[in-house]
Parts: sequence; structure tokens; C-alpha cells
Amino acid sequence: MNPVIYTPKRAAQILDLDLKALSELAPHESYPAEDVRLLRDNLGKTPRRAEARKQLFLNFKGGTGKTTLSTSYAFRLAERGYRVLIVDLDSQGHATKCLGVEDDAFELTLCDVLIQKRPVREAIVSSGYPGLDLIPSNLGMSAIDLSLMPLPGREFRMRNALKPVEPDYDFIILDAPPSFGLLNLNALMTTDDLVIPVLGDFLSFHGLKLLFDTLQDLQTDLQLSLGGVFIVINSFNASFKLAKEAQAALQEHYSDYLCHSIVRQSTQFAQASSEGMPISLVAPDSKGALDLEALIDELLGRIANAPAASSI
Ligand SMILES: Nc1ncnc2c1ncn2[C@@H]1O[C@H](COP(=O)(O)OP(=O)(O)OP(=O)(O)O)[C@@H](O)[C@H]1O
Ligand SMILES: [Mg+2]
Repeated sequence: MNPVIYTPKRAAQILDLDLKALSELAPHESYPAEDVRLLRDNLGKTPRRAEARKQLFLNFKGGTGKTTLSTSYAFRLAERGYRVLIVDLDSQGHATKCLGVEDDAFELTLCDVLIQKRPVREAIVSSGYPGLDLIPSNLGMSAIDLSLMPLPGREFRMRNALKPVEPDYDFIILDAPPSFGLLNLNALMTTDDLVIPVLGDFLSFHGLKLLFDTLQDLQTDLQLSLGGVFIVINSFNASFKLAKEAQAALQEHYSDYLCHSIVRQSTQFAQASSEGMPISLVAPDSKGALDLEALIDELLGRIANAPAASSI
């Protein structure tokens, strides 16, 4: 990602100050992201979690917004002052690209860590934004399910591999591919929370049943234990009758898990990913960015009251 430089108005918003207070504190015409982070530290406003919270964005169905939401969520957490690691689990490398990290900017992926047992720190690269690190992915990850198959402890390799860096982060965000294999099983056995982006259609609704059945099986067979399960309706368009019907069905059957915040359809998401930047940088006032903000507030509120691991 190119270096981020904020206008005074945006820097003040990010620091939750009014413009006058910011200009008295540090009068500048522009504010590099690094300076905003230092200002936050000096103001004593840097948030910290006692333990790294691991959150997996997963849906077996493709194209529901896992990457769009996980990358913009991870970026905003970093922008709010948290220390964040995002792990790209998908050999399409979309999260890597969404954060503007090019293929030639890294040598290792999670594959080297899980299969070759390379230390996880060697696979971590900076996204270019302060406080946001990445374990990138590329096509080299595509055979990882097969490579995991014969290995001892194959379901728990990710959980064990990430442990050494957990103290370095407040959040570890995992962006899953749309499949069910050993890699996603590892991700489920690693995570505290599951965030499930769904589209307002009936295929998404039926896909959820498959996912919840899988969670039940894993609870019995591998003692899967999740802190929170959050279903997020994404790309919602209230002018479609079907979308409203799907929303009502989700409300009826999954009300315990359904987030109140809904992310509406917003073309700026596509624009942002094509520019390798999160939506809050490209269009901070767009409805997509505002919806994301409400979702972050809701999730932070809900995990504050949820233990890191319990039963679903
Ligand atoms: N709220 C939204 N409004 C408009 N477009 C969106 C929204 N969310 C996602 N999209 C678009 O939908 C497409 C799929 O999104 P994304 O790649 O995030 O899904 P995914 O679940 O990660 O897909 P995959 O299963 O392939 O990993 C992208 O083109 C993205 O820009
Ligand atoms: Mg994706």
C-alpha cells in the first residue's frame, strides 16, 4: 500500500478530536498515518486488547464479501490504533491484492509455515500501513489441503503456528477461501470468532445450514469452541423483494447470530479493491464505509462481552 497521508479533517475524525483541538495540538496541512498513530499514543488513546482476538471470515459459498469485508475491517481496526495481522488463506491472493501488496513483495506464504514449519514471523510482511501486517498468499497455496493431509496434527497446525506472534497483535483476521478443506478446518480450529458474510439470497441461506451442520460436527469430533458467531448481510439492496425476504428468513432462523448492522451494496467497494486500497481510504463517506463502521462498532461491542472461546 502506498504511504497514507490524511487531511486535517480526516486525521481529526480518526483521532476522535475536533479540528480545532487537532490544530492546536499539532498544526499541519497534512498528517502521515505514522504521525496520527504517534499522536494517538501521546494522547493516551491507543486501544489494547488483553489477548489477541482471532476472527475468521468464512462462508463456503463464493463471492459473499469475505475478502472485501475482512480487509476493510482489518484496515479500519489498524486505523483505530489496534495492532492487526491479516492472514490471507486464499490462493487467489485477493486480500493481499486488496491491500495493495504485490506478488514480488514477499517470498513466503502460510504454506511454508504450515507445511515446511518455517517460523511464522518470516512470513509476515508490512502492508505499508502502520499497525497492519499481512501473511500474504499466492497460487503457491493452492495445493495446501493435499500437503496437509499426511501430516501429524494436521488440523491444529495453524493454531500452533500463530501462537508465537499472538502477543504482538490485538486482532488476527483470517480471510478464508470459499471451500471446505483442511486449511479452512485449521482456520476454524484457530479462530475465536466466526464472521459469516451472506448475500440476501436463498442460496446463501441454504449455504448457512451446511456451515452450521459442519460446526456442530466439529464441536463433537474436535471440540471446536467458538467465542462468537456473527452473520453479516452484505451487498444488501432493499429495493429487491427477494433480499428483504431472505433477510426475514435469516432473522427467523438465525436471530442469535445475525448482526443488526447490514452492509449495503456500494460500488465503492469494487473501486477500492481495484485500487488496492480499503474503502475507508477511497471513499470514507460512502454508504459502504459508513455501514462498515457500524458493523465494527457492533462487533467490538459484542466481543467485549464474549469470552474468546465457548460453545456455539
Ligand atoms: N457491499 C458490497 N457492495 C458492492 N459490491 C460488493 C460488496 N461486497 C463485495 N462486493 C463485490 O463482490 C465481489 C465479491 O466480493 P469478495 O471478493 O469480497 O467475495 P469473497 O467472498 O471474498 O469471494 P471468494 O469466495 O471468491 O473469496 C467483489 O467484486 C466485490 O467488490
Ligand atoms: Mg475472497
